[in-house]
Amino acid sequence: MRYLALSCLVMAAAAQSADAASPAEVRGKAGMVASRSALASEVGADVLRRGGNAIDAAVATGFALAVTYPSAGNIGGGGFMVIRLADGSVVTNDHRERAPAAADHDMFLDDDGDVIQGLSTHSHLAVGVPGTVAGLLDVHERYGQLERSAVIDPAIALARDGFVVDDDLAGQFRRHMPRLERYPASRAVFARPDGAPLAAGDRLVQSDLADTLGRIREHGHDGFYRGATAELLVAEMERGEGLITLEDLASYESVWRDPIRGTYRGHEIVSMPPPSSGGVLLVQMLNMLEPHDIGGFGYGSAAATHRIIEAERRAYADRAHHLGDTDFYPTPIATLVDKAYAAQRFADFDPARASRSEDIGHGTIPNESPDTTHVSVMDGDGNTVAYTTTLNLSYGSKIVVPGAGFLLNNEMDDFSIKPNTPNAYGLLGDEANAIAPGKRMLSSMTPTIVLRDGEPLLVTGSPGGSTIITTVLQVVMNVIDHGMDLSDAVGKPRFHHQWQPDRVMVEPFGFSPDTVAALEAMGHEGIDTIRWGRGIGDANSVMRRDGELLGVSDPRGAGRAVGL
Ligand code: GLY
Repeated sequence: MRYLALSCLVMAAAAQSADAASPAEVRGKAGMVASRSALASEVGADVLRRGGNAIDAAVATGFALAVTYPSAGNIGGGGFMVIRLADGSVVTNDHRERAPAAADHDMFLDDDGDVIQGLSTHSHLAVGVPGTVAGLLDVHERYGQLERSAVIDPAIALARDGFVVDDDLAGQFRRHMPRLERYPASRAVFARPDGAPLAAGDRLVQSDLADTLGRIREHGHDGFYRGATAELLVAEMERGEGLITLEDLASYESVWRDPIRGTYRGHEIVSMPPPSSGGVLLVQMLNMLEPHDIGGFGYGSAAATHRIIEAERRAYADRAHHLGDTDFYPTPIATLVDKAYAAQRFADFDPARASRSEDIGHGTIPNESPDTTHVSVMDGDGNTVAYTTTLNLSYGSKIVVPGAGFLLNNEMDDFSIKPNTPNAYGLLGDEANAIAPGKRMLSSMTPTIVLRDGEPLLVTGSPGGSTIITTVLQVVMNVIDHGMDLSDAVGKPRFHHQWQPDRVMVEPFGFSPDTVAALEAMGHEGIDTIRWGRGIGDANSVMRRDGELLGVSDPRGAGRAVGL
């Protein structure tokens, strides 16, 4: 019922747009931006109208999200961008947070070696050195067409003039105020003077954030990583016994990395390499599934679902053991994305029986909403951007830097803080993803571009912590295996398995009763219809079809696609 209600909301929003093609699809010819925030998508589309390319639009949308969608949009976190340029070349930019130089392998353990609960998620020690500003500026400088001011000014205006809080945002402030209000600067931004959370209809004005964005516009990297902003951030670290120093900030750099590439049924898959696990797992799972007639079995069939679950189980088991920051730990990427390896890894697959995730202790159900956010952009020239960015959990550490107005991430929890101990998403890890000074924590963010005949077909990605990768997998398979329209490919119910804990999470109406019965008869245990949040993922996506651009905002979120 909730899902249907959300679909109706999106239908209403799309119906207001003159170019709505279907309840959830927006059409355009010259460009398309799909993000979690209608205001941010409008900023991106406006940049395209002013002659910017997809990179300008993605960067402007990114800065705007830091203002209009503060639970995940950010300048105090990190992200990944996959860019396919009109000339056919593909690059990725890694601006994931790094562990501060003073970070230590066991920094979240007590003297007995036990995890100190909450330290890696809700403390100043939880904060990784932010990468977003370096990434957005580097990407813009290398590939953008417009001046820096053109991609930051809209965000400054939104922060300085404010905007009206809607029901969606008001609900977030209400839910997260108990943790936000522990920090006076956070309360000052997201609550009324009497301490009540800002409500729908109130105006959210972020003057300190506008000043910080202004310094970034004027001074580029130095507007964030040196000078006043850096000093304000480090002063807050010192107040809260955090680790980030001026030197950590001054030495932060984004990294250009070769994408992960794979193929699936004649399509090319281009996605993010480590320190994201997303691209590797996506390609690995597609490789395992390619020999199977998923389309023939049919969407939602027990046969297809069984195969997808078994592929997910094996890929996430590999993630826990093998994956981490490749600058610090040797990761067998080439093997993991190799079709021969997938065949070998799937050789024990039994079409009639579920296998078991064994040996390592159970993970936990996330007790707080994961909140990353994804932007998909295409322009009329074929430049395509998949951009996913995060503070980790909703509102990150909940700490707004006093005087600078932006939230700090709690990304340190994405490290494996103790071997085989679940993080906030129930994900396990080992030495490959252990904490080390300057290392980047493993991510699941999966910004992805699918090419057909060398041309962009689909750009997608999602929030959702560990469920990001399986969300992207299902959107891609819905398009390629089932031939769905983009609105269906994004809107259809999703399910998720991550090896440990050994259970299948499924959205309401995701499995028919006879599919559940068939899966249980095969031995799949713990099939669990999720009751929390808005569902699995929020895959704001863009697709090119017959020379036209189609944009979809995921009905699970309150975003918007804007086309021109
Ligand atoms: N913080 C969520 C992720 O990067 O996977």
